[in-house]
Amino acid sequence: MTKRSIIDVPDLSLPELDRLMDTAEDIIARPDDYADACRRKKLATLFFEPSTRTRLSFEAAMYELGGNVLSVTGAATSSAAKGESVADTAKTVSCYADIIAMRHPKEGAALVAARNASVPVINAGDGGHCHPTQTLADLLTIRREKGRLDRVTVGLCGDLKFGRTVHSLIGALSRYAGLRFVLVSPEELKVPSYVKNEHLKKNGIPYLQTTDLEEVIGDLDILYMTRVQRERFFNEEDYLRLRDSYILTPEKLKKARKDLCVMHPLPRVNEISVAVDDDPRACYFKQVLNGKYMRMALILMLLREAGKL
Ligand code: NCD
Repeated sequence: MTKRSIIDVPDLSLPELDRLMDTAEDIIARPDDYADACRRKKLATLFFEPSTRTRLSFEAAMYELGGNVLSVTGAATSSAAKGESVADTAKTVSCYADIIAMRHPKEGAALVAARNASVPVINAGDGGHCHPTQTLADLLTIRREKGRLDRVTVGLCGDLKFGRTVHSLIGALSRYAGLRFVLVSPEELKVPSYVKNEHLKKNGIPYLQTTDLEEVIGDLDILYMTRVQRERFFNEEDYLRLRDSYILTPEKLKKARKDLCVMHPLPRVNEISVAVDDDPRACYFKQVLNGKYMRMALILMLLREAGKL
């Protein structure tokens, strides 16, 4: 019986990732078999930063497993506003819930929560650091769309500096063979060195950095678009200058492969024109659904390991 928390994707081994994806596929095929799996168990969602998808996805996941949900949304309405520490919040919520999903604007907050909680903690996004359950959604989407996770050329485009989903996805995919990354961003929003050093350089993964999406779009199997992360900028002027650096349109897609898979963690601001939504290569709403199934699989795994099921 072990209480395990998930702070970033490397907390999960490759066989575990495979098992989670297999469980998600099984849930998709036979949802009724899981409808009571977490009966009388409680998930607490502690979201100290805005969210639509991730919080609702966790909550829908727990309800579809037959469990219940306790929810804190926004620092302003919780004891965080009175100055309570993340550590104390984690200890307190452990008295009510069997598992915690937490989003916080500060990098490292989920790790502090995990060290202090007596129940498993899942990082649902910590500042500009990482976002492992979005990556679980991304991996299942790539596996379902491409039939594999190795031998793919992945283009990541937009705010690669502050985009935590990008950091976690690079970490996860760098463990598969035959990967190539094409990193498309403005100069100011390149992938941080620590991510390149820890994952790309350490594993000898080939990557190209460019500012020009159109020049490389034809080489890609996956194009992962991201929003410029306004809330992490120090000044509004820089945000306004950079926010529309890349806008994917049907015109630009003409140069792309017929089997390209276009992904986006969402929310979309301007990065993908709505006219792209009808293109069969648009996978971002499938990605949302895949996220719910992967969160179901992860909740099940962690509650089983903790001896709660
Ligand atoms: C992402 C996030 O919060 O990091 N959203 C999400 O969880 N799907 C991406 C973003 O906010 O741009």
